[in-house]
Order: sequence, then C-alpha cells, then structure tokens
Amino acid sequence: MLLCPDCLSLRATAEPCPRDGATPLDYATALVGRRLGPWLLRAKVSEGGMAIVYAAEHEQLGRLAAIKVLRPELSLREPLVARFLQEARAVSLIGHKNIVTVYDFGRAPGDTSYIVMEYLHGATLRELIDGRRALPLERLAAIVEQVGQALAAAHDKGFVHCDVKPENIVVDDSGARPAVKLLDFGIATLLSADASDLGAPTAVGTAPYMAPEQLAQGPVDARTDVYALGVLTYELLTGRHPFPGQTPLACVGSRPSGPPRPPSRERTDLSSAVATGVDAVVLHALALAPEQRYAGARPFLAALQHALGSAAASAAGGGVGAPRALARRLARRRRGRGPAPGARGGPARPGLAATPRGLAGQRLRPARAATARPTRSEGRRASPRPRRRPSSLPP
Ligand SMILES: Nc1ncnc2c1ncn2[C@@H]1O[C@H](COP(=O)(O)OP(=O)(O)OP(=O)(O)O)[C@@H](O)[C@H]1O
Ligand SMILES: [Mg+2]
Repeated sequence: MLLCPDCLSLRATAEPCPRDGATPLDYATALVGRRLGPWLLRAKVSEGGMAIVYAAEHEQLGRLAAIKVLRPELSLREPLVARFLQEARAVSLIGHKNIVTVYDFGRAPGDTSYIVMEYLHGATLRELIDGRRALPLERLAAIVEQVGQALAAAHDKGFVHCDVKPENIVVDDSGARPAVKLLDFGIATLLSADASDLGAPTAVGTAPYMAPEQLAQGPVDARTDVYALGVLTYELLTGRHPFPGQTPLACVGSRPSGPPRPPSRERTDLSSAVATGVDAVVLHALALAPEQRYAGARPFLAALQHALGSAAASAAGGGVGAPRALARRLARRRRGRGPAPGARGGPARPGLAATPRGLAGQRLRPARAATARPTRSEGRRASPRPRRRPSSLPP
C-alpha cells in the first residue's frame, strides 16, 4: 500500500496523486517523521505481515516508545482492527515483567490503528542466535526461564500466546543477567476471539514453531505454547530446528510424524547426566499429542531446571559466547561500530543519530524488503531472517 506524502490518502498505485500530484511513497516509510497524537515516529524498526513497528518519541516528555501500526490494508477490516487492539488489552491484563509493557493504544485520524509500547533495547533472540551453534547452558537457562515465566503468566490469565519464536523475544544484555521480554500477542487475541470472519479457516502462527494441534486448526491451550517452548529450547541447545527441512510450507503440508533426534546428539559438551535429562525434557515438550506434554510452562521449567542442574551454572564456552562478550558487542553496535551480533554481513538498518533529537525529521531509506512471506495457509508469519532494529537508539 502506498501513501500520498502530501494529502496522506492511501494510494493503490505509484501514479501521481490526483489531488496534489505528489508521488506516493511506500506506506511504512512515509509514516517516518509523522505524528500519531503526541508521538513522533522516528524510525522504522520492523515491518511484518500485520503491522509496522516504529521507534517513536513523545514530543513533550521526550520519552522513547515503540509504536506498532496496523497495516493500512488491514485497517479496512473492522474485526481485524478490533483484534489488533485487543493485543494491547491482553498484554495490559497479563502485566508481567517478562512481557513488553503497553502504554497506550488507539486509532488516529485516517484509520491508523496503533499500540504504544515501551521501547525494548537489545536484540531479538533471532538476531542473537542466527548462524551460531548453540548457547552456553547458563545463558540458555536464563532466557528460557524468563520466556516460560511470561507464558505462565499469560496462561494464568487465560491467554495462549501461539507465536512463541525467537523473533518475538527481545534480550537485553546490558545488565549482569540477560533480561528477556516476550512480544507479539497478536495471535493470542485472534484465537481467543471468533475467527469466522477471517475467511476460510487457516493455520495461524509461525509454522516451524506450531504444535500439531495448532497446524490442524484444532483447539489450543497452554500445552500448545509448551510445544513452541520445546522447539525454542531445542534450537538454543543445538543451534538447529528439531525438524530440519520443515520449511513453513512443509510444516503445514506434513506435520512432524515422530520425535526429533534427541538434542544431545547435536551437542557434544553435555555430561551424560545432563544429556539424558535434557533429552527427556525437550522430547516431552515436543510430544505430538498435547496430553503427552507438560501441562504448562511451569512444570516444563521445573523439569528443565532439574535436568540442567549445576551444569547451567558451570557450563563454559561454545556457542554464542558469554553474556559479557555479547554485551560488549551490543554496546559497540549501539555506538555504531561493528556489526550487530548475529549479523551475517550486509547492511543493518540505517544508523541513527545517538539521541531522539538527532533523529528529528530524518527520512530513512526503505528497509530491505521482508523475506518471502508465507501465504496465510502457510501460517501468518514465517520470517526466519533477523529483523534489524535501529542500531543507535538512545539508552
Ligand atoms: N516494544 C518494542 N521495542 C522494540 N522493538 C520492538 C518492539 N515491539 C516489536 N519490536 C520489533 O518489531 C518486530 C515485530 O514486532 P511484532 O512481532 O510485535 O509485530 P508483527 O507485525 O506481529 O510481526 P510479525 O507479523 O512479523 O510477527 C519484533 O520482532 C521486534 O524486532
Ligand atoms: Mg512478531
């Protein structure tokens, strides 16, 4: 969808706007430098299937926030708008330290629906792990525990997240321990509502992380998130997906028919006691039938903690590197030197000035086009590539 930069009307083609002759711009880019209530959109952070996320600044308070704007073509579908805004209500209702905080939400003139959230510093877990082998156990335990606590809090309030994946987890390594936040409750609210007006039933989620019952569009519950947590833990343990070759499309077409290779076969630095325990826990979480999995995130976490035991505290080296080394690299990135952790070459997002003031009015060149997106029948989201976040936002 395009936007006329002068009259702000939505344009379907790149033809000059009939009202003022201005050349329409890509919608996501055209919003940068514009206002949503008191918020000035400073830079685009990410562009997904449902929404575009911006770094924004409150003009009076100077406060930094992330604003998620529903894609304009979806803004015309009232049930989708209602569900988009329900994400904000769900997150506020759950209110947990490992879940992003929502400040506000609403609709601006021109039918722009938006959610204002705390701006999360750090990197997505996808950025941190992509192209690397495995995480040290201590770091893995800290991250999985915080994701699991966030999910347990959501389940307590009756929400199933349904889209647990590294792209929806932000890790801040600026402290002594990684601080983790879970994002994107868009599907949780979607599934808790009547989905009939979304057209033909579809598997909604990110296929490689979807439990069989979610892929089959069956009923979901806390155990559906346990499965995704199992996939995530397997990935952090081994650096690979439990079902390699399961592209998003293949996942929908052919669901896993049996257990994956035990994770310890993919990782050689585990003692036999830890290997046995971890294999049992992860494979239990990845059971195809929900009734054969842990009943929720808490029992999964307790079992994982038990399996890792002191190994989590003493495990050394291998994988992505110690948190402190990562923190140093993130700090270098914030200062504009060196690539983002996990970057595989190619430009990251355009570097931004170091203060919100320095960003004023800045037009950024469009971010790289999103990677091939699945059709809805392939799952709503399947963007396995890391999405770079503005590299030098203020601390
Ligand atoms: N509060 C935030 N602070 C910083 N970055 C954020 C924040 N919220 C989202 N992001 C960034 O934007 C990306 C997309 O956010 P989110 O998953 O909520 O949107 P989405 O449109 O539902 O995405 P998709 O459909 O691709 O899953 C995240 O992976 C993260 O990089
Ligand atoms: Mg997302």
